[in-house]
Amino acid sequence: MNRGGRVPMHRLRAGDLSLEPLLASHADAMFEVLSDPAIYEYENEPPPSVHALRERYARLESRLSPDGQEIWLNWVVRLGTGEAIGFVQATLRPDGQAAVAYELASDYWGRGLASQAVRAMLLELVERYQARDLWAVLKRVNHRSQRLLQRAGFALASPAEHSRRQIDADEMLMHLPVPAG
Ligand SMILES: CC(C)(COP(=O)(O)OP(=O)(O)OC[C@H]1O[C@@H](n2cnc3c(N)ncnc32)[C@H](O)[C@@H]1OP(=O)(O)O)[C@@H](O)C(=O)NCCC(=O)NCCS
Repeated sequence: MNRGGRVPMHRLRAGDLSLEPLLASHADAMFEVLSDPAIYEYENEPPPSVHALRERYARLESRLSPDGQEIWLNWVVRLGTGEAIGFVQATLRPDGQAAVAYELASDYWGRGLASQAVRAMLLELVERYQARDLWAVLKRVNHRSQRLLQRAGFALASPAEHSRRQIDADEMLMHLPVPAG
């Protein structure tokens, strides 16, 4: 992988969905998507302005954490019609450990679209970026997210992993090991 410059990233297909590597130019469309209050029922908050989102996205175009140690991958999820409906993201460590997250506008929940997009990302993480262990941290009350992860093959991590990774009491850690070979 090219850690000296921009990390290569590819557009992915998932059924009718397309997953585009995130660019600063996605900020206008994504500001609207991410202004949906339903997304923040359990955690996080909407971006304060299009300008702030564009600046954040511009930084993310390097695909690297500020210290250069982690690969930060973000894809915008688009319908076949071209409409942006959310994003999927992954943080990859040099040892092959990857953490994933995702957000979809609530108008598109309940159709299996987030699952489709997340699975395409998981495949890409394993095949192109050699991820060996996939993780997700979520609020215990976020049952939609938990069901999505379970459908993708994740299981609740052990109590030892929870304490090793200092997971908060109101959160849960889910894990999907990648079979060797
Ligand atoms: C988490 C989140 C992405 C889940 O979205 P979702 O639409 O429920 O997830 P899926 O794409 O897996 O869709 C599952 C639903 O679609 C239904 N569905 C319909 N067709 C389906 C198909 N072909 N395949 C799978 N599910 C299908 C399922 O029955 C399920 O509905 P249900 O929840 O009423 O049982 C969404 O709730 C979200 O963006 N939340 C806010 C941000 C967030 O919490 N992110 C996660 C932080 S860890």
